[in-house]
Amino acid sequence: MRQFEVTQLAVGGFDHNFSYVVYAPANGDAAVVDPCGEAALIVRTLRNLPLCRPRYILLTHGHRDHCSALTPIRAAFAAPVAAHPLLTGCHRDIVLNDRQRLPFGDGYIEVLFTPGHTADGVTYRLSDDSGIFTGDTLFVDWIGYCDAPVMYRTLRTVIHPLPDSNIVYSGHDYGREPISPLGVDKRRNAYLSAPGFAAFRAAMKEL
Ligand SMILES: [Fe+2]
Repeated sequence: MRQFEVTQLAVGGFDHNFSYVVYAPANGDAAVVDPCGEAALIVRTLRNLPLCRPRYILLTHGHRDHCSALTPIRAAFAAPVAAHPLLTGCHRDIVLNDRQRLPFGDGYIEVLFTPGHTADGVTYRLSDDSGIFTGDTLFVDWIGYCDAPVMYRTLRTVIHPLPDSNIVYSGHDYGREPISPLGVDKRRNAYLSAPGFAAFRAAMKEL
């Protein structure tokens, strides 16, 4: 049995947005990442879980397109909303700390502060290194528009050191495939693989 199961939901939204349902078969813990777009699809996915213990609604950042379905999901899924301390404009119950570990199933979800696209950017890592939820920080093949020096530091010091096994679960369907192992993206994503800031800046001209 896998420790965590992730369902990627193409919810439409403003621009090919993704929402995610994360599930721990060990005890039924469930979380929603970035509730947006077609709320009914998210709710249907939650209802189809064998057992559903609502644990968290996790926001990667406060951009409206990533929390546009927050109100209907909160009504259907009684879990606290967790986000970065700088988040504004969305409801929030849990103010996260960098490197905080949120208990989940028989493991945890780790909070990684990843500023660059926004100051309130958070990436969530599953404790078995099977997946990271990157919002608009990292897409398959691309990154989000950003403050270049801040994003470069985030990619080099937080994202790149993570194990290759992590599947990149991003906020939008912009890449060659909807998901990709981080190990693959380290090789073919020009922003993530840039050997220095000058190369990163040069790659930014393609954004
Ligand atoms: Fe965004």
